[in-house]
Amino acid sequence: MARRTLLAGGAGIVGLGALGLSAFGLSACGSATSRLVTPTSSAVEAAERARRHTGRTVTTRLTAAPGPIDLGGPVVDTWSFGTVPGPTIRTRAGDRLVVDLTNDLPAPTTVHWHGIALRNDMDGVPGMTQAPIAPAGSFRYDFTVPDPGTYFFHPHVGVQLDRGLYGVLVVEDPAEPGDHDQEWVVVLDDWVDGTGRTPDDVMSELLSGSGSTSGHMGGMGGYGPGGYGTSGDMTSPLLGGAGDIAYPHYLVNGRVPVSPVTLTGRPGQRVRMRVVNAAADTAFRLAVGGHQLSLTHADGFPVVPVTGDAVLLGMGERVDLVLTLGDGAFPLVAAAEGKHGHGLAVVRTAAGAAPSSTARTTELDGRVLTVADLAPATSAALPVRRVDRTHDLDLGGSMGGMGGMGGMGGSSSGYVWTINGRTFEHQQPLDVRQGERVRLRLRNATMMFHPMHVHGHTFAVVDAAGRPGARKDTVIVAPMRSVVVDLDATNPGQWMTHCHNAYHGEAGMMTTLSYRD
Ligand code: C2O
Ligand code: CU
Repeated sequence: MARRTLLAGGAGIVGLGALGLSAFGLSACGSATSRLVTPTSSAVEAAERARRHTGRTVTTRLTAAPGPIDLGGPVVDTWSFGTVPGPTIRTRAGDRLVVDLTNDLPAPTTVHWHGIALRNDMDGVPGMTQAPIAPAGSFRYDFTVPDPGTYFFHPHVGVQLDRGLYGVLVVEDPAEPGDHDQEWVVVLDDWVDGTGRTPDDVMSELLSGSGSTSGHMGGMGGYGPGGYGTSGDMTSPLLGGAGDIAYPHYLVNGRVPVSPVTLTGRPGQRVRMRVVNAAADTAFRLAVGGHQLSLTHADGFPVVPVTGDAVLLGMGERVDLVLTLGDGAFPLVAAAEGKHGHGLAVVRTAAGAAPSSTARTTELDGRVLTVADLAPATSAALPVRRVDRTHDLDLGGSMGGMGGMGGMGGSSSGYVWTINGRTFEHQQPLDVRQGERVRLRLRNATMMFHPMHVHGHTFAVVDAAGRPGARKDTVIVAPMRSVVVDLDATNPGQWMTHCHNAYHGEAGMMTTLSYRD
């Protein structure tokens, strides 16, 4: 069983009452004069009651189960919600969402609602906000969905995210004019499960440093049919690093490039594309041949629209893009940033030959939009105010004697990723009080990029002038760089704050934004 499961979820038999304290090592850091705001505290209930409500309820069910999935050629044995991606759930902002989850997996699981500022006891973190859902067990997720936007859901146990267990949650905004003719949901993923290894196997290889997994880990090269990746050749000038794993497949909407999905429309139509990076270890650079992309929303929240040729997405990030369709058949390419390989879909408005599965498109090398290009729409801007509390998060790591990782004090060995020199097991939670403006300074002392994610909040990325900028819940911190984010502590509870590289998180790069009163 993977380490996080043991850490956070291994105590699955404990009741919720015990969850906030000794089971998490949080008590050691507490002071006598303040108490944890636990998922079951009245503040969580009060915050839920204060959420604006439509009176509408959306009800659905999800079953997590093992089974074969056809990726468009390769048929893999994996764990999924029945399809890959899983079903898209649609609600309106202010709706109540009720999801009955059945766990038919041979392992405990949960569902986390990534990016949603929901009530803490529905956040899906085993051992922190709920007990893990045991095999053959079930759980009802029931919460108000406050903000419109593009979100997704995935388990928060071990590296289950790197299986097929993910789906998109679209929260519609009834107030939005909807300046487009149709909408496509586009989900990007890196794939290994059922190709001879499971993500748990990959995690064990990384932890033991056995080397066949990663270019960084000893030069054995990648695995899989293509044998992608060899030591030192996984790097990206734009990101500074690449992931740790050379995957055999990269998917768009669950398909390998040789049999891509087709997204159809008519020439001249405006399409809103909701793009989710559901990968575990891969950033993607996405472009559509012959098209410009107008980025309108980042992590669900509106930005001042900005136009480019391509867009970079870290793991856990989402963008909404608007494009005006040309006449013909065009490749939608999701290049695995700094790695070899890409995902592909076909954008089609007319008859004609499909783009080849190896198509790269020149737009990928054009203007690539990143977080640096984003400014918040007026409606999404976090007001300027005094910062009440600042936390530094020094991102560190060690990869078994590889040079240049930094941050761990040198001699440690093995695959370990840390925040402030500590793995999650030994975390020092980030204390906050309800109502505070909180600043997090994310400082990356490693040669790897880390998409840092905070649960339950959408922070503002602080710009060069020190002002709160675009709203995000996940932000890439490039090697040896810092990103500063501000958030308003308005959602009481215990919230995971971690690297959205599933393997980094599992190897320790997680902590808790911890409300106390
Ligand atoms: Cu999608 Cu804790 O993350
Ligand atoms: Cu990371």
